[in-house]
Amino acid sequence: MPEVFDVDSLDLEARGVARRDGKVVFIEGALPGEVVRARVIRSKSSFDVARVEQVLAPSSQRVVPRCLYFGVCGGCSMQHLDPAAQVAVKQRVLEDALWHIGKVTPACILPPLHGPSWGYRHRARLSVRFVGKKGGALVGFRERRGSYVTDMQHCLVLPPHVSAMLMPLRALVTSLSDPRSIPQIEVAVGDATTALILRHLKPLTAADLDLLMEFGRRYNVSWWLQPAGPETAVTLRAEDAEKLAYLLPEYGLRMPYRPTDFTQVNQEINRVLVHKALSLLRVMPEDRVADLFCGLGNFTLPLATRVRVVVGIEGSKALVERAREAARQNNLAERVSFAVLNLFAVDAQWLRDLGHFDRVLIDPPREGAEAVARALAALAVPERPKRIVYVSCSPSTLARDAGILVNEGGYRMLSAGVVNMFPHTGHVESIAVFQ
Ligand SMILES: C[S@@+](CC[C@H](N)C(=O)[O-])C[C@H]1O[C@@H](n2cnc3c(N)ncnc32)[C@H](O)[C@@H]1O
Repeated sequence: MPEVFDVDSLDLEARGVARRDGKVVFIEGALPGEVVRARVIRSKSSFDVARVEQVLAPSSQRVVPRCLYFGVCGGCSMQHLDPAAQVAVKQRVLEDALWHIGKVTPACILPPLHGPSWGYRHRARLSVRFVGKKGGALVGFRERRGSYVTDMQHCLVLPPHVSAMLMPLRALVTSLSDPRSIPQIEVAVGDATTALILRHLKPLTAADLDLLMEFGRRYNVSWWLQPAGPETAVTLRAEDAEKLAYLLPEYGLRMPYRPTDFTQVNQEINRVLVHKALSLLRVMPEDRVADLFCGLGNFTLPLATRVRVVVGIEGSKALVERAREAARQNNLAERVSFAVLNLFAVDAQWLRDLGHFDRVLIDPPREGAEAVARALAALAVPERPKRIVYVSCSPSTLARDAGILVNEGGYRMLSAGVVNMFPHTGHVESIAVFQ
């Protein structure tokens, strides 16, 4: 039986949140402020999940999704909400997490950092599935529900030239000797080339390689072949191995990478983010700065163009090698040093042994940086960095770590805000400043 609900808020899976007799109901397709008729499709002891059948009073922020596949494709979840309202939802999630989890309130909320809303995904993992009934292979994001691959002919969040390759890629995979042995194609768009990484479960034939070569020439892409884990990926043509890079023009940097390395998904907003992080750190030429979870040096090398010394620390040996190589290629090797280390297992003495840092940048994975936060909180006041900038892809772990810095360490949280790195999705990227 459908029921009528008043929708209060939105969760990060873009479901409207309502309450009925004290029980939370997550309603697919509903927006905050709306009155909807919805049917419960799943009932648990502490919450129900429902699906909208009719919007009785629509929100003024409801928009018509641009993409034909919205609702089916799992790539985006918020296209029916005005982009500015999406950012407001994310900001609220961040503020709620800071307060409820970390018991902290930033002294000020930073204006959201904006980039392009469409065509922004420079990294993507496309699933491939041979479906006889569809006449060949499908290439695209997985469906929102279940594990099927979306039957999509284009995608508005991929760069237009990658979107335009979806149908040719379907034809290409279908023409290979064993299309069922191809589960995935990853995309990495660099400044001068686009790399496609073909995961193949069985060896490719000489005819397959010819077809890939021909596709590569026609669409100007570099093929990488990946027979097992990411480290096994190699270029089909030796001359493509060094081509992939992204630019940080404000700092005159070219950042080489392998397509399986971690790089930020949205390159335009990454440039804005790097600029913002450096300006929030208020770096001075004489500073000694630590860049924790430095990856391939995305913040380390820009920092090195502005300060005396930067120490980059990262858990992946391969990424540190890439960062060192990038430092050499950009003539910054004298100002930077890198170390491979598990930053989930560090303490205050380790931090002291590294010597005094004037500023620290932290950009951890979703798990956050609890051990680093505890180490910073345990330093005596004169030993502490003047400022910490924390870039986060998980509001809940940022909130936990902010709670440690502020409530245990006595730091002040000067500001926090969201970075609209992944428009139309539920991912929240944020940035926070501590002093
Ligand atoms: C969000 S990425 C940031 C990378 C880099 N700052 C950038 O902007 O490209 C997080 C990084 O943390 C690294 N990492 C994950 N777990 C780690 C650990 N336990 N210790 C050190 N680094 C780790 C990952 O390899 C990854 O490079």
